[in-house]
Amino acid sequence: MKALVLSGGSGTRLRPFTHTSPKQLVPVANKPVLFYVLEAIADAGIKEVGIVVGATAGEIRAAVGDGSGFGLDVTYLPQEAPLGLAHAVLIARDFLGDDDFVMYLGDNFIIDGITPLVEQFARERPDAQILLTRVPDPTAFGVAELDAAGRIVGVEEKPARPRSDLALVGVYLFTPAVHEAVAAIEPSARGELEITHAIQWLIEKKRDVRPTTISGYWKDTGNVADMLEVNRSVLESIEPYTGGTVDADSELIGRVRLEPGAQVRDSRIVGPAIIGAGTVISGSYVGPYTSIADNCRIEDSEIEFSIVLCDSHLDGVRRVRGSLIGRNVAVTPAVRIPASNRLILGDHSKVQISS
Ligand code: G1P
Repeated sequence: MKALVLSGGSGTRLRPFTHTSPKQLVPVANKPVLFYVLEAIADAGIKEVGIVVGATAGEIRAAVGDGSGFGLDVTYLPQEAPLGLAHAVLIARDFLGDDDFVMYLGDNFIIDGITPLVEQFARERPDAQILLTRVPDPTAFGVAELDAAGRIVGVEEKPARPRSDLALVGVYLFTPAVHEAVAAIEPSARGELEITHAIQWLIEKKRDVRPTTISGYWKDTGNVADMLEVNRSVLESIEPYTGGTVDADSELIGRVRLEPGAQVRDSRIVGPAIIGAGTVISGSYVGPYTSIADNCRIEDSEIEFSIVLCDSHLDGVRRVRGSLIGRNVAVTPAVRIPASNRLILGDHSKVQISS
């Protein structure tokens, strides 16, 4: 069994974190989504991984390297343009050979990993196995229709009138039967070879396509509440660790992960929370469900239920809650008289001010 991880895409989407970095590197609890994908693959006992890369190949390669850090053997497969998920299978043909494989979209997140799914697939070997999850807006996904017995009737890509609320999760298990399907289909209206169409082709040819419905699924759709929620649920299971230093005037309560080189001075941190390498927290309160990335400075501030990306600086800010703060951001107090807010915000920023 091999894995095919899709980390292409044009990298042009303008969401809070993706306009300066690939969507596969969006962090959840200080770790890129793609790393959870690779860890889930390694946990399932798979070693050989092909990563399909596009315009952001440099950043993906810099982050993942040869895969040895994950116990994987990674081969990079360049895709000249984002021509679709089924196109990625086409260009990976030589890498995949005649092996079964799991195709995993590098921006998809499944909280419990894929080990039982891979084991079941290896035992039963249907032609294909797809994962489904209930979503509030199925029009943004591939959508499956099941019959009363739970068998698959058909799949449609981003239908205007969805036949169910069961979205196709970006994890698919295939036998080599899929190669015939991806070679048979035509590009969709958006000009892409859709994996959904290849799956529909298999269904129409009466091949064995089995659905499994899961929960604990997340994908960045630019929804801040969802992002904070997935960060919360991952922090829920972190182990306490003190790689950094904590002075005598500080207190760590509950499960706090302090990466090497982090410093906590005259502060109180209530977990679950994670503080990145080289970050300094001083004279501050960091509350539950907060991820602060590497090389930040949180001074004389209060923050909880929030995400702060690397190299950012909060000074004298009370009180930050339910917030998403990008890279290299500075938040500092305004002059008191006259009472005013001074804002220098990038494109697509969203700010709520309590005063
Ligand atoms: C792709 C698939 C879609 C699937 C989704 C999951 O959509 O085409 O069927 O539901 O991934 O992430 P895209 O990311 O291309 O919009």
